[in-house]
Amino acid sequence: MTVADLAADARILWRLLCGQPKSGSHAERLQAFYAPQAERYDAFRERLLHGRQELIQRLGLQPGARVVELGCGTGSSLLRIGGWAGQFASFDMVDLCPALLDVARQRVTCHERVRVIEADATTWQPDQPVDFVFMSYALTMIPDWSRVIANAEAMLAPGGRIGVVDFHLPADGGRWSNAFWRKWFGHDGVHLSGEHLAMLRRLFVEQFSAELRAPVPYLPGVQAPYYLFVGERGDLEGEGRQHSATLPEWLRKRI
Ligand SMILES: C[S@@+](CC[C@H](N)C(=O)[O-])C[C@H]1O[C@@H](n2cnc3c(N)ncnc32)[C@H](O)[C@@H]1O
Repeated sequence: MTVADLAADARILWRLLCGQPKSGSHAERLQAFYAPQAERYDAFRERLLHGRQELIQRLGLQPGARVVELGCGTGSSLLRIGGWAGQFASFDMVDLCPALLDVARQRVTCHERVRVIEADATTWQPDQPVDFVFMSYALTMIPDWSRVIANAEAMLAPGGRIGVVDFHLPADGGRWSNAFWRKWFGHDGVHLSGEHLAMLRRLFVEQFSAELRAPVPYLPGVQAPYYLFVGERGDLEGEGRQHSATLPEWLRKRI
C-alpha cells in the first residue's frame, strides 16, 4: 500500500471515527456521512464488506432477468456481476445518497439497460415484478429495515429470488462480543441485529444461508460477524411466507 493509499484510508477512518451525524433526515445524514468518503469508498469497503462476490454467485442471476439492487451505493456490484449486466432485461440500482449515486452513474454509462435511481428502498417499487432483488450491507443502515424486506418481497415475481449479505448479531455470538459490535457499528449508523436474518427466513423459502466472520481493516485479530442469505418467493399461499404481524398495515394488505 502506498503513502497516498494510507493517507486516503486515514481520511475515511477519520470520518468513521466522527460517526454519522445525529441531526437531519435519514437522507441528509447519509449524504453528510458519505459525501466526503465517496471517492475512496470502494477501495476501503473492499476490505470491510465481505461476501459480496459470493452473494452474486449464489443468486444465480440469468440473462434476460429483471434485477433490482436496493442500497446500491457506488454501484460496485456492476464490477462483481461483470458482463452479465448487459444481458439483463433491466437492472435498477436504487439508493438514497446522491454522493454515492454520482459514482454509480459514472459506472453505468456503458450499460444501457441499467438505471440508477435516487429513491427510498422502503417504498420504491419497479414498474413490473422482478426476478431478483439483492442488497449488500444496506439493511443495517436503514432504520425501517423490516419495511425494506417486505417491500423487496412485494416487488418479486413468484419464484423470484432475494439475496442479502450484511453484518449481524449471531445468536451464538456471546453477550460481550455482540454488545461490542452493536456499539462499534452503531456509531456510524450501522445497526446490527439478529432479527434481519430471522425475518428473511420467515418470509422466503431458504435456498442458502451462512453465518460467517471476516477481518476488519486496522483491527488486527478481530473478526466481524456477517451473514449471506438467498431465498425464493413462494406462491401467495406457499410455505415460507408467514407474514410478520409487525409489518406495516399498508404492506400486509399489498402482499
Ligand atoms: C454500507 S452502504 C453499502 C453500499 C453497497 N451496497 C455496497 O455493498 O458497497 C449502505 C447503503 O445503503 C444506502 N441506504 C441507506 N438507507 C437507504 C434507504 N432508505 N433507501 C435506499 N438506500 C439506502 C446508503 O446510502 C448506502 O449506499
